[in-house]
Amino acid sequence: MSITAIVLAAGLGTRMKSQMHKVLHPICGKPMIRHLLDAQQAAGISRRIVVIGSFGDQLQAALQGEVEFVWQAEQLGTGHAVMQAVPLLEGEDGITLVCNGDTPLITAGSLTQLIALHRDQQAAATVLTGVVDNPFGYGRIIRGEDGSVLRIVEEKDASPNEKAVREINSGTFCFDTRSLVEALKSLTNENAQGEYYLTDCLDILRRQGKRVAACCVEDADEILNVNDRAQLAMVENILREKIRLQHMKNGVTLVDPATVYIDTDVVIGADTILHPGTILTGNTTIGRGCVIGPYTQIHNSTVGDESVVMQSVLLDSTFGTHVQIGPFAYVRPGSSVADKVKIGDFVEVKNSRIGESSKIPHLSYIGDADVGAGTNIGCGTITVNYDGVTKHRTVVGNNSFIGCNTNLVAPVMVGNDAYVAAGSTITDDVPDGALAIAREKQVVKEGYKSKLEAKLRERGPKK
Ligand code: UD1
Ligand code: CA
Repeated sequence: MSITAIVLAAGLGTRMKSQMHKVLHPICGKPMIRHLLDAQQAAGISRRIVVIGSFGDQLQAALQGEVEFVWQAEQLGTGHAVMQAVPLLEGEDGITLVCNGDTPLITAGSLTQLIALHRDQQAAATVLTGVVDNPFGYGRIIRGEDGSVLRIVEEKDASPNEKAVREINSGTFCFDTRSLVEALKSLTNENAQGEYYLTDCLDILRRQGKRVAACCVEDADEILNVNDRAQLAMVENILREKIRLQHMKNGVTLVDPATVYIDTDVVIGADTILHPGTILTGNTTIGRGCVIGPYTQIHNSTVGDESVVMQSVLLDSTFGTHVQIGPFAYVRPGSSVADKVKIGDFVEVKNSRIGESSKIPHLSYIGDADVGAGTNIGCGTITVNYDGVTKHRTVVGNNSFIGCNTNLVAPVMVGNDAYVAAGSTITDDVPDGALAIAREKQVVKEGYKSKLEAKLRERGPKK
């Protein structure tokens, strides 16, 4: 039986006070709605319809090609939002899963459980619920004396007794598609907010003599929704903690977990140690047996096994195994660093390829360069890559030696097994095996001090 998911995301998200759609705000590096869509996918639901309205164009741009869209021109409530998707359910006789776009912590496991219970009970509607300490703002689950679900009452419509109920509506439901379409026809907006509440469908179905069930999540954190920035931070905190625990379970050491931030999609090999202040974001992969940090930020990068990265920032680059980076290195986008390379203190590398076992130990700027294997770049080397108009590349071959304090004025090429004398400004290519010296020849003036003193004596004492 097919399952279609409808994700509600047409609301304005007023409380976020943002020019960006609420569900596009990132949580641990991934847009809020994508967490939900990924959980749906993992639960085996491939058809997703997203109801859009305010800032709908932003959602269309972000999710193009992944989901179907339906517009809700006026935001008249969650029930009204689902009505807009009804034409797309034509001919469907399976299950419709309805989710709110602003509940990013729901897991595939809970969705699977909800669907299983719904099928098991042969229910017309099953709501995913949770028991929370502070139910304020959520719809309350009202059960009959026999424990069966009667209806959901919204905060603004609830009596004091109903407000005391701590079992809340997650906003996630499983419906028998045909029953849902029928129930929507009977919805009214006679309530405190003048909205068409999706939640009223449960009461309607029950009155039609159909079965309404509830599936209560074990971990109520999963159903937290994000309406404002405080809830955004709270949800991010919970997810961050879960991510840390998962990595620790996988064999990664976090010396001081609270100070380590790891985005959702980051992969880390076992026996890697993350020191305090390590921030791993975006699409980052760290190998096995690495030592990362302290105070290191790695974004959209891959670092191979047995590498050490200390107090450095690495962005959009790839690193082989056994590399040694930092302290205080800055590797900028587009760099590709081979195995066993050392990039030491106060070295900036940008859009460059560094070959195996090469070393840039200290105080250098290597930009738009291709450096071969086994080459040593001396302290204070600068690739002069910009002429004020265009960027040019510097090429250095294998097993070459660039002396300290060298300018390599690009475009320029230094061959294999070549040497550049310290303090050179290289403007012409250096052939394989050659030594280039490009600096003023030293002049030594013997006896300079005594000549100076003689001059001073001649002039006599100052008046
Ligand atoms: C809703 C539920 C509440 C539940 C809570 C769980 C209703 C009436 N209330 O309340 O029982 O405890 O979620 O998080 O369903 N939306 C539209 N179109 C609209 C209105 C809303 O697409 O006309 C979307 C919003 O963009 C949002 C979702 O529906 O993603 C929920 O709307 P929101 O206003 O946040 O509902 P809550 O007040 O949180
Ligand atoms: Ca909400």
